[in-house]
Amino acid sequence: MNAHSVPLAEQPIDARALRDVLGHFATGVTVITTIGDNNAAVGLTANSFSSVSLDPPLVAWSLSLNAPSLSAFRQHPAFAINILCDQSKELALKFARPAPDKFENVDWHAGEDGVPVLQAAAATIECQTETRIPTGDHEIYLGRVINFKQTGRRPLVFHKGEFASLGGSI
Ligand SMILES: Cc1cc2nc3c(=O)[nH]c(=O)nc-3n(C[C@H](O)[C@H](O)[C@H](O)COP(=O)(O)O)c2cc1C
Repeated sequence: MNAHSVPLAEQPIDARALRDVLGHFATGVTVITTIGDNNAAVGLTANSFSSVSLDPPLVAWSLSLNAPSLSAFRQHPAFAINILCDQSKELALKFARPAPDKFENVDWHAGEDGVPVLQAAAATIECQTETRIPTGDHEIYLGRVINFKQTGRRPLVFHKGEFASLGGSI
């Protein structure tokens, strides 16, 4: 390296190019729910979900510091991960836009800590918030699993900015 070259780690990142690269990592799609002011149901579409530990049972996801739902997730000590099925693309789109009426015409019931459990989910994992870790422009939520169920429906997939369903095993 000569005196005028800038180390790779200090060069500005092209955010669009980074998003395109990250999009190669195919994920499932979840709607993560909690309870907000006046017991209002709150939820957003998220694909940052991942499993962390079986003993103790821990999962993680990250929430944008700009999300209107941030204060609800900070205040209520529990949340539910609703893993969407491949018939639920419309739900994924609905919960990915800020709106006061996201739960209108959506079937759900209250889980153990009052958090909304969506009827249409392929599987649901109810958690108590174990830790919140602010980092960069997001806050990582670690949840301790207190309840879970599955329906056998096939999962919705997100890849390179598009929704898809699984074609089958290879
Ligand atoms: C496929 C997909 C995945 C997303 N994943 C996340 C995520 O992991 N974390 C996040 O904060 N926002 C994520 N978003 C964006 C939020 O869904 C969106 O900002 C939403 O409006 C936030 O809800 P709120 O406005 O009610 O707070 C994702 C959107 C889509 C379409």
